[in-house]
Amino acid sequence: MTLSSAPETAVVQHALRGSVLVVTIDHAPVNALNAAVRRGLIDAIDAADANAAVRAVLIVGAGRNFIAGADIREFGKPAVPPSLPEVCNRIEACGKPVIAAIHGAALGGGLEVALASHYRIAVEGAKLGLPEVQLGLLPGAGGTQRSARLIGAQAALSLMLSGRHVGAQDALRLGLVDRVGQSDDVFAEGLAYAHELIATHAAPRRTKNARGLADKEASAAAIAAARADTQKTARGLASPLKIVDCVEAALNLPFDEGLRFERERFLECRESPQRAGLVHAFFAEREAQKSPETRGAQPRALRSAGVLGGGTMGAGIAVALLDAGLAVTMIERDDASLERGRAHVEKVYDGSVEKGRMTPEAKARALQRFNGDTAYDALAGADLVIEAVFEDMTVKKAVFAQLDRVCKPGAVLATNTSYLDIDEIAASITRPQDVLGLHFFSPANIMKLLEVVVPARVTADVVATGFELAKKLRKVAVRAGVCDGFIGNRMLAVYRAAADHLMEDGASPYQVDQAVRDFGFPMGPYQVIDLAGGDIGWAARKRRAATRDPNARYVRIGDALCERGWLGQKTGRGFYRYEDGARIGKPDAEVEAIIDAERVRAGVTPRAFSDEQIVRRYMAAMINEGANIVHEGIAQRPLDIDATLMHGFGFPRYRGGPMHYADSIGLDTVLADIREFAKEDPLFWRASPLIVDLVARGKNFASLNQAA
Ligand code: 3HC
Ligand code: NAI
Repeated sequence: MTLSSAPETAVVQHALRGSVLVVTIDHAPVNALNAAVRRGLIDAIDAADANAAVRAVLIVGAGRNFIAGADIREFGKPAVPPSLPEVCNRIEACGKPVIAAIHGAALGGGLEVALASHYRIAVEGAKLGLPEVQLGLLPGAGGTQRSARLIGAQAALSLMLSGRHVGAQDALRLGLVDRVGQSDDVFAEGLAYAHELIATHAAPRRTKNARGLADKEASAAAIAAARADTQKTARGLASPLKIVDCVEAALNLPFDEGLRFERERFLECRESPQRAGLVHAFFAEREAQKSPETRGAQPRALRSAGVLGGGTMGAGIAVALLDAGLAVTMIERDDASLERGRAHVEKVYDGSVEKGRMTPEAKARALQRFNGDTAYDALAGADLVIEAVFEDMTVKKAVFAQLDRVCKPGAVLATNTSYLDIDEIAASITRPQDVLGLHFFSPANIMKLLEVVVPARVTADVVATGFELAKKLRKVAVRAGVCDGFIGNRMLAVYRAAADHLMEDGASPYQVDQAVRDFGFPMGPYQVIDLAGGDIGWAARKRRAATRDPNARYVRIGDALCERGWLGQKTGRGFYRYEDGARIGKPDAEVEAIIDAERVRAGVTPRAFSDEQIVRRYMAAMINEGANIVHEGIAQRPLDIDATLMHGFGFPRYRGGPMHYADSIGLDTVLADIREFAKEDPLFWRASPLIVDLVARGKNFASLNQAA
């Protein structure tokens, strides 16, 4: 029996089952709490209070989740009542016991709805959490006040500051839920619990009255410890400290005042650029997974894989594939190299075991699926082969000729090349339609980014298989076209050149690194070079030497260090000195002397740069090249650039990637900067036609994301 006039298609439906009012949230895909859902929940609770036949209320989610949280798409738009705090307060005030029955995600506002309910049951597979911090927010519908009262200051802070999800059993241990269902039938479990509560005459039990903060001293100590820790670890983020402040308010203020305090902090966060950057990041990494090919084609089956080369990348890729449950065959040149490759793979696993991320048994299980060989015929049954041999066209073509010979029809043949022309590799064999680029980043089993590089003749289902593989590997896939460096490395070359210009013009590499770190990158460009090995970039520069514009500015400082054998951490010296195997380098006066000498050689009179000037040039170079890449169709949309830089190059997530950042400071500002810098070096600083066009039309990069 339907109690109200709510139409069947309403996003919140409520119907009486015996004496239980079942309230079902049915708002695909994840039951996010948009205005209609909020309204529907209030109406349902009003209906429950108004009907004497209702003795308990059961809230459940339709589909795969309870509620994934506030509707992130509403942020930045005018607020529509009722607000989520009003909804939660209304649920808590209900005169009949309200039970939340949780399956799938109960995150953010979703968990807040559950916390405002009077009783909570979860089934296996449930994911509970307050992940707002990852979006630059804090729980803004009573979550900071209710969670602290329910599970205590320390547990609540840990949940909110990490944003982690906990499963049903952990939630039970924490006291977030009252019980875990015996089966995964959330509706049946919830209904049974409701009947039990009715039978025992259970009254509404309001979380605002819970006693988790009763031990004032212990709570205050937990808050102080969290504050001290957060001050060290927040890395420029604003919302974590505000979360601590809110829990302190929960301890010291009456509930209603605490709610008001929380709401003010929440609104500050909601209006902040950090929130805008992080929400953009959330959608960018999801949108990036969508390409014309994934919309239209079925991926091919993926069970077994081959990896060619057991060096840095081959070993990391093998581990990534093993971790995703695939069987892996590694091919190397000879027995000794194969042994090295196998040892590489084992070393990666040993590291995980040492860090407690994996048990020795799990390592053994993974390695059971690993085989090595020196004969290509071992790849005859592989569904997918990823080549990671030396970066040399002749070597790669020879490898692909072998693959063409042995691989079964329909096998996907991928190359991990960083810079080489994949169209040329594809054209060298009889099945170019099966060849694509899968460009991993080092260390390949850790780094999230996977560029799916799409050559001209590949078929859509092969591209779709690349995206499917990324999903299996839990990586963020970005579609890229073929060009020198694809998206990420092509941009890197340009913004590194801008850094080199700054260095030769007067900034020290240490100042550049510091300025870039202060902007939010975990490392500056010269630290990254030292970590990866200066020889990688050196080899790329040598390769490009023949085709480089002779009039283009070329800074020789990096080459001068490599010529001395100072290749970075692995040689104990690079831009920094690494004494006694230290991982953090110290500035090196000899490097500064080399830089001085190069300045003299280049006829440059050094000048001072402020950190802000450094960042403006660094970012303008990055944004301009990103715009060129979109303009040429190498990246589909600006958001693909953002996902690439955030997941492969350490771009601070709270700034949303370079293109979002460009929008946030204004494209006209970026263009003015480029034109200003062009006065000194018009060859390097050529404004991208895309930026010029967007500024002329009063548009931003975001407009291209929406249009695509
Ligand atoms: N609002 C709006 N849309 C959302 C959303 C949300 N909270 N959460 C997910 N979506 C959308 C995704 O964008 C995606 O849309 P698309 O199909 O058009 O690309 C779709 O739902 C499915 O999402 P996923 O691809 O991520 O699906 P999964 O099954 O892999 O994951 C999930 C599901 C675990 C719920 C994951 O989407 C997630 O973590 N969502 C965000 C949860 C969150 O951060 N909640 C807190 C929000 S802030 C808040 O509640 C403030 C409050 O305190 C006031
Ligand atoms: P590496 O030099 O560490 O490993 C290459 C391996 O390939 C060696 O073990 C070598 O024995 C093996 N090999 C060479 N010829 C072979 C053949 N014919 N058959 C079988 N094995 C052969 O090189 P690395 O760094 O792993 O790079 C491999 C590829 O990955 C290159 O194309 C590189 O550009 C690319 N890449 C490298 C990244 C990095 O950070 N190192 C990042 C992304 C891509």
